[in-house]
Amino acid sequence: MTAPLLLGIDIGTGGVRALLVDGDLGTVIDRSSATWPTSSPHPGWSEQDPDRWWAATAAAIRDLTGRLDDSNRITAVGFAGQMHGLVLRDADGRPLRPAILWNDQRTASQCEAIHHRIGRDRCIDLTGKPVLTGFTAPKLAWVQEHEPDIARRIRSISLPKDHVMHRATGVHAIDVADASGTSWLDIGTRRWSAELCDQLDVDTSWLPQVHECSEVVGSITAEAAALTGLAAGTPVVAGAGDQAASGLACGITTDGLVSITVGTSGVVFAHSDEPPRDPDGTLHGFCHAVEGRWHRMGCMLSAGGSLEWFRSTLAPDRTFDQIVAEGMTAPPGSGGICFLPHLSGERCPHDDPSARGAFIGLSTNHRREHLARAVLEGISFGLADMLQCVRDAGRHVDSVRLAGGAARSQHWRQLLADVLAVRIETVNEPDATAYGAALLASVGAGLHDDAAAAASAMVRITDVIEPTGFDYGPTWNIWRTMYPDLAEPMHRLAD
Ligand code: XUL
Repeated sequence: MTAPLLLGIDIGTGGVRALLVDGDLGTVIDRSSATWPTSSPHPGWSEQDPDRWWAATAAAIRDLTGRLDDSNRITAVGFAGQMHGLVLRDADGRPLRPAILWNDQRTASQCEAIHHRIGRDRCIDLTGKPVLTGFTAPKLAWVQEHEPDIARRIRSISLPKDHVMHRATGVHAIDVADASGTSWLDIGTRRWSAELCDQLDVDTSWLPQVHECSEVVGSITAEAAALTGLAAGTPVVAGAGDQAASGLACGITTDGLVSITVGTSGVVFAHSDEPPRDPDGTLHGFCHAVEGRWHRMGCMLSAGGSLEWFRSTLAPDRTFDQIVAEGMTAPPGSGGICFLPHLSGERCPHDDPSARGAFIGLSTNHRREHLARAVLEGISFGLADMLQCVRDAGRHVDSVRLAGGAARSQHWRQLLADVLAVRIETVNEPDATAYGAALLASVGAGLHDDAAAAASAMVRITDVIEPTGFDYGPTWNIWRTMYPDLAEPMHRLAD
C-alpha cells in the first residue's frame, strides 16, 4: 500500500517552502520553494503584498502535485509561517493595504501608549510579554491612527500564514501559537482576551477563531484545488507560527529541551509546562504547538538577516556557504573586530527599535574574511545572550537542537557549539518550520494522537557536534559591553 503523504508549508519572510512528507516514515519525499520581495517605504518599515504569498504558494504546491502520480495521497495540509504580521481585509475578503511584518519598527509610540493604558505588568500577566513593536496589536493601533480611511473598512484580520490558509480554505482561523504573538491573546486561557480587545478598540468580529495547532479547521476549496492540484476537500489543520512549528520539528516537547532556529531572525526556544511570565519581560511567553503547553522564547531580529545583508552588500557574487567558508579562514575573534547584528532594531535581550548594527575594531589589516567571521560571531554572541536569559530563568542547558540555515553548515554548527559552549544537535529536517507544519498535519490526518506523539514518531537527531573547548568568553564579554556603550549614539544616528 502507498504511504499517506502530508504537505507542510512555511510562509517565510523571504518566500515559501513546501515539503511533501511520507506519513509512515517521516521522510521528505519532495520539496519546492519560491521567493517574494519585502519593501521598506520608510526606514524601519517592512511590508509585503499578501496576494503574492498566495500566488507563489499555489505555484509551489502545483509544482509538487505536478510530480505526484495521485494528489489524493496527500491526506492533510498544515501551514506555518512568519509571525506577528498584520493583514487587514475588507468586506469582500481583499487585502486593504500591504501586510506590515514582524520586523517592522514603526510602532514604538503605539506600544508606549498601550502600556500606559493597560499597564506593562498587566500585559505581561495576560499575554506573557510586554507589547513590542513587531507585534500585531500596535500595528492595528498605528493603522487606526494614521490611516483612518483604511481602518474604517476593516472586516477581518489575519496573520500571514492564516491569510494564505484563508485563500486555500475560505476559513478565518488562527492557531494558539501565532495568536500568542498578537498581544490580544490571554496565553493562560488560550483565548482572545476580552479585556485587551475592549481596551484596544478591537472589534472581536474582525478576529479569527482560535484553535489548537493540530485541529482540523477546514479543507481545500474547489477554487484552490484547481490552482494547486490538491484534491478539493483535503483537510487543513490550524498550523502554527514559525517558531512553535520549528520547535516541534526539533522535538522540543518536554521541559528541559531547548532549540535555536536561525532564519532571517534568530530564536532561542524552551518548552514550558506552565504559561511563562518573566516579570522583567526579556524572554517572551507563548502557547506552544503542543496542545495545552507553552514555550519561552527570545528573538533577535537580524540573524540570517545580517548574513543576507553582508552577502548582498559586500559579497553579491558569493553563496552563503562560500561566505561562511571564507569567514572561517579568519582567526577566532575575527582579528579583533566585533559586529553588532541589530540591523532591523532589536527585540531580545534589548527591546530597542532604534538599535543599529556596527563593525567595531576595524584596522587596515582587516579583509573581507575578517568581516564575514565577525558577522557570524556577532550573530552567535546574540544567540548566546538569549541562551543566557534561558539559563537565568532557571534552566540548565547543556545541549541545543539547531534548525534553519545555520543547521545546514558544519562550520556554523561548530562555531555555535564553541560560542554557546553546548553540544549542538541537528535533527532530520533543517526546514523545520515546514516540517513542523507537516507534523501537525499528521495529527489532522489521524496518523498520531497529538503533536508530541507526532514529533516523537517522526523527529530524529541526525548529528551531534561537541564544543572544541576554545574559549569565546573573553570576546563575548567585550561584545556584551558594546550595545549598552553605543546605544546613545546609535539612537542619535537612527533619529
Ligand atoms: C518570532 C518572530 C520571527 C518571525 C519571522 O517572534 O518575530 O521569528 O516569526 O520568522
